[in-house]
Formats: sequence, structure tokens, C-alpha cells
Amino acid sequence: MRLGVNIDHIATVRQVRRGTEPNLLAAARECIAGGATGLTIHLREDRRHIQDADVIALKSSGFRLNLELSAASEIIEIACKVKPEACCLVPEKREELTTEGGLDVISGGDALKSVIQKLKETSIIVSVFIDPDQKQIQKAFEYGADCIEIHTGTYSNLKDDHKRAAELNAISNAAIFAGSLGLQVHAGHGIDYQNVGSIAAIKPIEELNIGHSIVSHALFVGLKEAVSQMSETIKKYAHK
Ligand code: PXP
Repeated sequence: MRLGVNIDHIATVRQVRRGTEPNLLAAARECIAGGATGLTIHLREDRRHIQDADVIALKSSGFRLNLELSAASEIIEIACKVKPEACCLVPEKREELTTEGGLDVISGGDALKSVIQKLKETSIIVSVFIDPDQKQIQKAFEYGADCIEIHTGTYSNLKDDHKRAAELNAISNAAIFAGSLGLQVHAGHGIDYQNVGSIAAIKPIEELNIGHSIVSHALFVGLKEAVSQMSETIKKYAHK
């Protein structure tokens, strides 16, 4: 099971002062030292946290990068130039606090299909961030995506036990369906130290992308230790 640590939240702290602290490359090194297998960053169109220079610096320092991005042509061009190991297509709205819900692959149509193809031609592994919905997964497969990242934000926010169990079941069924199509299965959004076990235990899931809970915990225990605790928790529950 791979752990990609989302370091957008560290860049957010830096951007509050538009300076250089906290240093993103140093943070990335701490994440890897704590057991992360890679880093996830979202180059948003409004550049509210990660900057173009961060993507270049992280890539040229040799980190395994999963770049989250919208299908906007300006951002796709940057991805094709920098060539991160993987790209994850996400929906993006200026006014949102964080990514809200999965991408509507079906509505994305041919335009989305050609973005997926363009990234793949650049030898980038292409993932799409989607809700646990078989129709969306089927379309992602038809459009040539290599992976899906299942949106776990709804599950993470639910308080009602029955609704939570139903959403977890939907995530599990979606993961099994995607796996049966030969897609790699990732999961992310809202995962924390309490709920990670139930997601990590779902067999086809091979990668978790986690940011906010780790960076929040890092304020008290340090980044390396916060990543290490998450990594150990995942190992305890993961199927492999
Ligand atoms: N995966 C995707 C596609 C995301 O958009 C985000 C948030 O940027 C994450 C994972 C990480 O979510 P969180 O910060 O809630 O752990």
C-alpha cells in the first residue's frame, strides 16, 4: 500500500506570507523519511497554495509526484512539460475550500478523453478522482485512465453509522469493480488516523492520498512522526 502525502496544506501556510517558510522541499524530505512513498500536490488555477516553481523543484529533486489538476489547458501544458510520475484529474471551482466531490467523467465527454490521452502520450500515469459510482468508473476506463482515485470525503464526513456503512460498502464495491476492469485503485480525501483502517482494508486499493489530518497532527508531533504514525496505522490494517 502506497502513501502519498498531500503537502498543499504546508504550501498554504507559506502562502499566507508569500515567503519561503515552511520550506516545501524540506517538508517533502520529512514525509519520505516518515514512510511516505510519494507526494501529492494540487496546482490549482488560482495558485492558492502550490506554485509552478514548487512543481518544478519537487520534480527535479527526484520526488515521486502525483500532481492533482483540473483539465484546464494551461495546467495540462505545465504537467506535460514537468512530467510528474502521475496526474490525478479533479474537478475545480474557485470558490471551494477544497475539492468537493468527484469528477463527472461522463459529462467530461470527448474533451476529457483527449486530456487523458494527451497526458498518457507524455508517459504520465493518469488517474481520475471520482465518486464511488460504477458508471463513472466505466467511463474512466473507456477514456483510457490508468487509475481511479475514489473520493472518500463523503464517507469521512458522515456521522450516521448506517449511512457511513452504506458509503463504505459503495467504496468497496467501486474498488472491486475498478479492479476487475484492470484499473489501479487509489483513495483519498478526508482520511484521518481513525478512519484510515477501514479504507486501507479494502483489497483493490493500492494507494492512499492523505493531507489535512497528517499536517494537522504534525503541528503537535512533527511532520516525520505524523507521517510515520499514519504509515504504521495503514500497515496494521492494509490487506498487503
Ligand atoms: N485526493 C484528492 C484528489 C484531493 O483533492 C485531496 C485534497 O487536496 C486529497 C486527496 C487529500 O485530502 P485531505 O487533505 O482531506 O487528506
